[in-house]
Amino acid sequence: MRRKIVAGNWKMNTTVAEGETLVKELLELVEESDTAAEVIVCPPFTHLDTIGRMVRANYDGKQYIQLGAQNCAGQPSGAFTGEVSALMLKSLSCKYVIIGHSERREYFGETGSSLFQKLILVIQNGMTPIFCVGEKLKDREEKREYEIVGDQIKEVLYQLKGADMEKVIIAYEPVWAIGTGRTATSEQAEEMHAFIRKIVSDKFGKLSQQIPILYGGSCKPSNAAELFSKSNVDGGLIGGASLSSEDFFRIIKSF
Ligand code: 13P
Repeated sequence: MRRKIVAGNWKMNTTVAEGETLVKELLELVEESDTAAEVIVCPPFTHLDTIGRMVRANYDGKQYIQLGAQNCAGQPSGAFTGEVSALMLKSLSCKYVIIGHSERREYFGETGSSLFQKLILVIQNGMTPIFCVGEKLKDREEKREYEIVGDQIKEVLYQLKGADMEKVIIAYEPVWAIGTGRTATSEQAEEMHAFIRKIVSDKFGKLSQQIPILYGGSCKPSNAAELFSKSNVDGGLIGGASLSSEDFFRIIKSF
């Protein structure tokens, strides 16, 4: 059976103190419940040390919440002012790094070749990339969503060796559903997730069966169970709703 994962992408939200409160509340909820899903939080870089210490301090044979980052540099080190390397994230005990979020592609000009560099650095540093793909509204209106998502996978993930691909998590985030309140229907999500698995299988064969594929885009407590009930939807990458411990926990409990 594939891993079930619910990851929170806080984006550029919360002060460190607010982040601490959020994680404190979440730890209390998650520790007392038997959740089927692995829980990940991806706060801003500035919060990683503090939040990382909090989630590790509660270790009692099980770490209830794992730490992820939202991005990393495409270079290993050097004169790149303002950047944060994969090695630095590893040194903060990050286990996951989101790569290629549509906001990074849209506002920071990230493209296939730069994303591949980041992906490799994340994997070389022993962390798991959460690689994001997704079409824009215009693409879907033009019925090009499969072509666009297929190309996003091929241009980056097809360059990986099988042993590296094994470590990847994919997140399907239709851009028209991000922060808009407009969610993909569970059928739309399932169709695209099955397509993504097929594209991965065309190159990597059976390995595709073990790759978790998360859905992201206005996922909330009211629609998470329906989305997660689909066989190819292995969890969620949650934006807005991950900023409320209660909502995020209800999503985690939707499995
Ligand atoms: P929302 O859940 O706010 O739509 O954001 C989704 C997302 O972009 C997660 O990475």
